[in-house]
Amino acid sequence: MAMAPPPPSLLRLCLALLALSSCSLSPEGRVASLPGQPESPAVSQFSGYVTVNERHGRALFYWFFEAQATPEEKPLLLWLNGGPGCSSIGYGAASELGPLRVVRQGAALEFNRYAWNKEANLLFLESPVGVGFSYTNTSSDLDTLNDDFVAEDAYSFLVNWLERFPEYKDREFYIAGESYAGHYVPQLAELVYERSKDKKGKAYINLKGFIVGNPITNDYYDSKGLAEYAWSHAVVSDDVYARIKKYCDFKISNWSDDCNAAMDIVSSQYQEIDIYNIYAPKCLLNQSSASYANRAFFVNDKEQFRRRIRMFSGYDPCYASYSEDYFNKKEVQNAFHANVRGLHPAKWHVCSDSILNSYNFSVFSVLPIYSKLIKAGLRVWLYSGDADGRVPVIGSRYCVEALRLPIKTQWQPWYLDKQVAGRFVEYYGMSMVTIRGAGHLVPLNKPDEGLALINAFLRGEQLPTHR
Ligand SMILES: *[C@@H]1O[C@H](CO)[C@@H](O)[C@H](O)[C@H]1NC(C)=O
Ligand SMILES: *[C@@H]1O[C@H](CO)[C@@H](O)[C@H](O)[C@H]1NC(C)=O
Ligand SMILES: *[C@@H]1O[C@H](CO)[C@@H](O)[C@H](O)[C@H]1NC(C)=O
Ligand SMILES: *[C@@H]1O[C@H](CO)[C@@H](O)[C@H](O)[C@H]1NC(C)=O
Repeated sequence: MAMAPPPPSLLRLCLALLALSSCSLSPEGRVASLPGQPESPAVSQFSGYVTVNERHGRALFYWFFEAQATPEEKPLLLWLNGGPGCSSIGYGAASELGPLRVVRQGAALEFNRYAWNKEANLLFLESPVGVGFSYTNTSSDLDTLNDDFVAEDAYSFLVNWLERFPEYKDREFYIAGESYAGHYVPQLAELVYERSKDKKGKAYINLKGFIVGNPITNDYYDSKGLAEYAWSHAVVSDDVYARIKKYCDFKISNWSDDCNAAMDIVSSQYQEIDIYNIYAPKCLLNQSSASYANRAFFVNDKEQFRRRIRMFSGYDPCYASYSEDYFNKKEVQNAFHANVRGLHPAKWHVCSDSILNSYNFSVFSVLPIYSKLIKAGLRVWLYSGDADGRVPVIGSRYCVEALRLPIKTQWQPWYLDKQVAGRFVEYYGMSMVTIRGAGHLVPLNKPDEGLALINAFLRGEQLPTHR
């Protein structure tokens, strides 16, 4: 595939620098083409490492796509996945909303017609260190990960990335993410907001808002919502639900033994189906652990298990394991500028169990950040796939209601292709949107609806209220 020319703004920068130093017309990080990438359409993409802490030797890995048309007029959108420990490249980019998705058991990439870089310059970050290709030279860093650490490193990443891509420095900037990024996104937004108060300052970033999907937000409401959802969707019995109501005080993080016993039954029922998409088929590849979603499997059993996968209406529940096949290929890593000097000896995983297990969960609720940033005038949206059992729509409604914002537009359906795509409610200060029939990964489950949603968010428009 022919290499796309560098963006005009980079050319201008190069011309300006030409007199001073050698200036390469192939900007750092450009990816000409990845193994298995379709010949067309052309995709303007970059990837590589950005150092976030020199003393400890920490570097975060990114994958960046310019907007499909007139990138110089489009905002910059950062996407983060959660876990903690899951890769925004394996999930967000390669399975959900990126322009190139891994298909055919990791053998190829496919162009995604519903990619979110239709309307934005789209940046995926593997965060924190220890996730995906992101690494640290100080292994003790991995024992001290918590929300503050993650936000600080993501902030340093942004500042340093913008030094490398200066044409995006004053661009309208939005942050998006799902699941545990329900913590990362508002926390990073708060740091950016606090450190951008001086519009003339060197580190000024033109943050306009954030949007989160099926987000972990407040442990009390989210746990209460999880239990109510399991009962109201016929996953557990009346008796189990009665025990949860009797024994569980979700206001404290330390659940009683009786509560744990009742919640274990919820959990065991969800082992048999996909908690992240309760009406979808479950991936039957051998899964390694309880974290985020479908995981690694054993090489010898690959073929045997693949034959057992059933695909319902084009949805393949084993999407995540294809990313692992793809991103562990040496030729992919070389083309991708990943793991170049073998700094990352371990296998690339779509989610890291050790990060999940060592993570210090110290923040109970991010709702105070919502209140603060809403008051500051940022655009704030929360969306929810209503078939997710893990961070269910019920808990998210409690969270949004707890902000006690006055209603601007009542709860009502929104439409796509003459069908109800979901519902939404607008408050003075934020919007909440549901996506009917989508699970935890809205852009994967309902790509068309996901694209309509992000476009409405970026333009600050209401979703269509008529067929
Ligand atoms: C980590 O250490 C290696 C080997 O010394 C070095 O090449 C690399 O630049 C270091 N990474 C960072 C982010 O400083
Ligand atoms: C957890 O709860 C038990 C009693 O239910 C109490 O004895 C213990 O101190 C609590 N632990 C923490 C860390 O709060
Ligand atoms: C799945 O993995 C477990 C170990 O985690 C193993 O005991 C079991 O035999 C595997 N199942 C199959 C069918 O390979
Ligand atoms: C977890 O993080 C909190 C908040 O930063 C901190 O106060 C606490 O000491 C940490 N706990 C551990 C075990 O590192």
